[in-house]
Amino acid sequence: MRSWTTFVGAGVLGVAIAVGCGTGGGVDTSGVGASSSSGGEAGVAPTGATLAGDIPCDVAEIMSRSCTSCHTDPPNGGAKVPLTKRAHFLAPAVTDASKNVGVLSVERMKDTRKPMPPDGVLPASDVAIVEKWVAAGMPDGQCASPPGLGKSPYDTPRDICTSDTFWTRGEAESADMLPGEVCNDCHVKRRHPNISSIGGTVYPTAHEKDKCNGGPSVAGAEVVFTDVDGKELRRTKVRSPSGNFYEKPSVFTLPAAGAKVYVEQAGKKRHMSAVVKDGDCNKCHTMDGSGADASDPNKAPGRIMLP
Ligand code: HEC
Ligand code: HEC
Ligand code: HEC
Repeated sequence: MRSWTTFVGAGVLGVAIAVGCGTGGGVDTSGVGASSSSGGEAGVAPTGATLAGDIPCDVAEIMSRSCTSCHTDPPNGGAKVPLTKRAHFLAPAVTDASKNVGVLSVERMKDTRKPMPPDGVLPASDVAIVEKWVAAGMPDGQCASPPGLGKSPYDTPRDICTSDTFWTRGEAESADMLPGEVCNDCHVKRRHPNISSIGGTVYPTAHEKDKCNGGPSVAGAEVVFTDVDGKELRRTKVRSPSGNFYEKPSVFTLPAAGAKVYVEQAGKKRHMSAVVKDGDCNKCHTMDGSGADASDPNKAPGRIMLP
């Protein structure tokens, strides 16, 4: 498992290669699934990169459309495994080495509790195409013109403020204070442990600055918590235009087993795949994304984004 730091590093290296002055260390130079980035932001495949021809065209088309925005090589934002060539599907799964990634992919595509893609199960016809290939033992697909890799949702400009408006009143008490900063941790340090059990900020793009307001586009968004089986526990309103959301500990705290969470707006959803156990969301969802601590292999990809 590569850490997010390693991943960003690989992206920067990819750029160096693209301009012809880099060394090849650690980068897949086969031209398939090699990682790059448009300026050291979230990692994405270079424009024009495609899936490998050894995945059948119909399976590759589904991967391109629904999977490889996250499952690039190396994977984006905690997606664990790349899905850009046949060998990736034949490899043992990370979370269950008793099956290969192909078998687990079909299982996850059918799993309504933790679907892949995370935003919901695809049409049965798509699942059937992947399932048929996997059941046949994943033979070489000999696809003559494989499709391109999708754009990563986290490939947005870094160090920006889309709303172009900032919080300027320091620690003046307000539910709209210090968007993007780490809420609960500061409240505890300032000896106000009863202000927030959940706290965070929603942004329109993935790498926005601290103190930047989410802006008017966050209006109507909600952060929805469910238990690990999908039963809804709580809907928390996102405040417009700061983008902040919070809950008082007396009203809602995360269950001990953690919760699943997604952001919803106008019927569209964006899910966090992993179980969340810490309600201080901006701890991980910083501008560049960081784990709960430096050793966390599963660093967040950046801000919590609107769907
Ligand atoms: C928005 C990003 C995203 C998209 C799109 C996506 N995934 Fe994932 N996937 C993840 C994340 C994050 C994880 C790790 C957390 C988890 O297992 O839920 C993951 C985990 C997996 C795993 C488990 C890997 C292992 O070895 O344990 C498989 C298999 C998988 N995804 C298959 C797919 C397939 C197939 C598609 C398309 C039909 C897909 N994913 C689309 C983000 C994504
Ligand atoms: C650097 C420290 C710090 C950070 C970061 C911070 N706060 Fe605060 N917050 C405070 C302090 C100090 C108070 C005031 C406590 C008092 O004087 O009663 C406060 C008060 C509040 C209150 C109570 C306001 C009221 O009307 O009663 C809310 C709600 C709140 N913060 C939400 C948030 C949210 C949401 C975030 C994260 C996006 C956040 N805060 C980030 C320090 C912080
Ligand atoms: C310990 C670190 C950590 C904490 C705390 C955390 N997240 Fe995440 N979050 C991640 C990681 C890693 C991903 C990408 C992999 C995944 O989806 O599981 C992610 C992805 C997401 C996504 C999907 C992608 C995006 O950026 O929009 C949403 C939505 C999200 N988180 C919401 C939340 C909310 C709401 C909270 C607070 C209740 C929270 N997260 C707390 C690590 C964290």
